[in-house]
Amino acid sequence: MDFFRIEGGRRLSGRIRIEGAKNAALPLMAACLLTDQPVMLRNIRPLADIANMGRLLADLGVEVKPAASGVSLQSMDENRVHARYNIVRTMRASICVLGPMLARRKRAIVSMPGGCAFGHRPVDLHLRGLEALGAKIELRGGDIIASADRLKGDTVFLGGPFGSTVLGTANVMSAAVLAKGRTVIECAACEPEVVDLANMLNAMGARILGAGSPRLVIEGVDELAGIDHVVMPDRIVAGTYAVAAAITNGDVMLDDFPYDSLLATINHFREIGVHVQRISGDDPMRCTVRVTSERNLKPTTITTQPHPGFPTDLQAQMMALVCVAEGNSVITEKIYPERFMHVAELMRMGAQLYRQGPTVVVAGGGKLIGAPVMASDLRASASLVLAGLAAEGETIVNRVYHLDRGYHRMEETLNALGARVERLKEEKPALDDEVAASTSAVSGIV
Ligand code: EPU
Repeated sequence: MDFFRIEGGRRLSGRIRIEGAKNAALPLMAACLLTDQPVMLRNIRPLADIANMGRLLADLGVEVKPAASGVSLQSMDENRVHARYNIVRTMRASICVLGPMLARRKRAIVSMPGGCAFGHRPVDLHLRGLEALGAKIELRGGDIIASADRLKGDTVFLGGPFGSTVLGTANVMSAAVLAKGRTVIECAACEPEVVDLANMLNAMGARILGAGSPRLVIEGVDELAGIDHVVMPDRIVAGTYAVAAAITNGDVMLDDFPYDSLLATINHFREIGVHVQRISGDDPMRCTVRVTSERNLKPTTITTQPHPGFPTDLQAQMMALVCVAEGNSVITEKIYPERFMHVAELMRMGAQLYRQGPTVVVAGGGKLIGAPVMASDLRASASLVLAGLAAEGETIVNRVYHLDRGYHRMEETLNALGARVERLKEEKPALDDEVAASTSAVSGIV
């Protein structure tokens, strides 16, 4: 099992390019099930979750071929409709195949995704949306079994207790594209990854209006063509490297920075004293920015929200950053109230954190000090690496396989900016680590 040894206290400087978005790529890959024509996706990094989605699609009769900085997909055998537990358990995002498979193959069996390290993550909204389009859905033997001769457009409300659902919107939108007649999705997720999916589907012949707003209007079509699509840059990876620059008081240029998708984050950066200066780029989703920061950072108050609010996927990284600010910050998690596995680990590094329910008060002004810490999910791991970059002395971040799900060779990227991060292998994992690895594979966080 790999771990990172980080020598903290080095200012980062240099230039890197932001990789393609994992959370955009997964539903885009699943959308290949909507056509029998080739779907070429570019700007995809070989992350663990991308490989898992490739395995799942191959099992569903898709020919999956690696291509230059991407993947080529073609659905060949439409009789295969069972997304099995052994793959779904490794990655919650497997649920993305449900809508596309049902719409085109008329039947889909998808193993019900389980909980994850940061709480119960139901799929009721996905199912409610597909039922509104006429799907018959039952749960049997741990599987979601969905069928429909042809889906029929209707009005669907996708709001839940924590707002809309990103993958639920992707699922229902993908299914509605091939439904008969008009579908209106109210309370649709506005996340940029949903927009990327809508753009690709429209380029394949779909008729989706309103992507990026809470109301989607979709006129069903009979079939979709193939496509060659470049996946949007990863806004969470971009935000993470911006924090890496800020937390080390560095000076870093980021190419392909999806500026327009990070306005809430950039606003908090400004309050804290982190400058994200747009250097060039006509496309607001692919700019070059320069990230610098003031020597003494200020505190802030952050509440995570659905897009365009501050993203839950950057909450842990931002918490690491305000640990080194002067004064008290308050962070409230409104999407996943239990997503705080990083809190205890940051405290091991000297952070002064006080949690009550979904809120953490960060008493800044102190110092982070290197320590051995345990990564427990993708974004929590990222926050521990960031804290390690700023900490005095050596930090060991164990179980970095979580990190590898969403960041492509993060240590190489950071080292290219002057960090000292070594990836090392534990010769013989301790028994509890082996157990943790298999549990994590089962809980699967994406
Ligand atoms: N929810 C329901 N019912 C549902 C679906 C969701 O109550 O049927 C609740 C969830 O429990 C949560 C909220 O609604 O409280 C939002 O969940 P959502 O469905 O939007 O999450 P998701 O689509 O499963 C994606 C990302 C997550 C990201 C969330 C929120 C992918 C592959 N995953 O998950 O990314 O946190 O949206 O923005 O796109 C990550 O990358 O680290 C990650 C966890």
